[in-house]
Amino acid sequence: MRSTTSLMAVAAMLPFAFAHYNFEALIVNGEVTDAYEYVRQTNNSNSPVTDVTSTDMICNSGGLLSATMAKTKTYTVAPGDNVGFIVDASLSHPGPLSVWMSKAPDGTAANAYDGSGDWFKVYELTYSTINSEGIQWATYPSGTSGLSNFTIDLPSTLPAGDYLMRAEHVALHAASEVGGAQYYMGCAQLSVTGSGAGVPSPTTKIPGLYTGEEDGLVINIYYPIPTSYTAPGIATWPTDCVSHEANLEGQTFQGMCVGDDTASSDAASSGAVSSAAPTSTAAASAATSAATSAAPVAVTSAAAVVSAAPSSVVTSAETTATSAAAAATSSAASKCKKRKRSVV
Ligand SMILES: *[C@@H]1O[C@H](CO)[C@@H](O)[C@H](O)[C@H]1NC(C)=O
Ligand SMILES: *[C@@H]1O[C@H](CO)[C@@H](O)[C@H](O)[C@H]1NC(C)=O
Repeated sequence: MRSTTSLMAVAAMLPFAFAHYNFEALIVNGEVTDAYEYVRQTNNSNSPVTDVTSTDMICNSGGLLSATMAKTKTYTVAPGDNVGFIVDASLSHPGPLSVWMSKAPDGTAANAYDGSGDWFKVYELTYSTINSEGIQWATYPSGTSGLSNFTIDLPSTLPAGDYLMRAEHVALHAASEVGGAQYYMGCAQLSVTGSGAGVPSPTTKIPGLYTGEEDGLVINIYYPIPTSYTAPGIATWPTDCVSHEANLEGQTFQGMCVGDDTASSDAASSGAVSSAAPTSTAAASAATSAATSAAPVAVTSAAAVVSAAPSSVVTSAETTATSAAAAATSSAASKCKKRKRSVV
């Protein structure tokens, strides 16, 4: 039997790229497309981006090269379609997963768009539980090497046009100091049909989506064991929610806000959230009342909370939700196997 020391020595000699990954293929309504057929290919193997101020944060290294853009196909989809990504090989680091979209200017095709416009976030997936073993990342279930695919539903009110849809996973295994987080991303090219009348907000630019100093990006996830985790960046649209369980290709779709405490938690925990739920009045009012009850500032109207989502309100609501989730799940701690901690 090999000693721990020699195993660590072997691990240290493995190529550094061993645990890296790419979002390589688009999934649309169950159809898995070829690698880099509809997703812009990186020119830097599977290395992460580490500089949040770099334009490589948009669509990965090489994602804005005209030859790469031109050779990537654009998939025609409708609002509400189920879309997702295949990961090569798997999301083998701890950290949050998100999906962002940016509409190309009218008259600019997706394969000619450089992503310099406004971006909004449509999906945020963090942890399944936080227990005495630490943060149990939803993309990195205990005993696995991480998820290799996931899906979301496009917003049902998504306006028509050509888009970049950007998946992002932030690896936090070395994030205890500023600059230690690793950013993995890939952009699919979509052409959205229909007559969606939504107005995506909030929005941000990329780079500019992070300062790199957010609590969710500078964190020692191992010690002391965190008791809460708040994902970095803007709130999701159309519903401000954080999901706590991934939707996998080929399995029953559970919704966009699974386990979220600030949205319609009843619907989410019953698994009954559908693509229509994020825009339903019930979900919106639940989100509003959750935000309002935790809000340290006066709120003038429900619409103001939902559309403007002041960060202080979001933070406060999420903090409350997080401690509630941690308390609720601490009793389940003994059922969870100890996570092998990656130091790669
Ligand atoms: C890869 O893309 C980057 C831009 O993201 C560019 O600066 C670099 O020159 C490219 N490398 C190669 C080998 O083409
Ligand atoms: C998606 O991931 C699940 C869980 O790992 C796996 O069972 C399924 O085969 C994957 N689907 C595809 C298309 O890769």
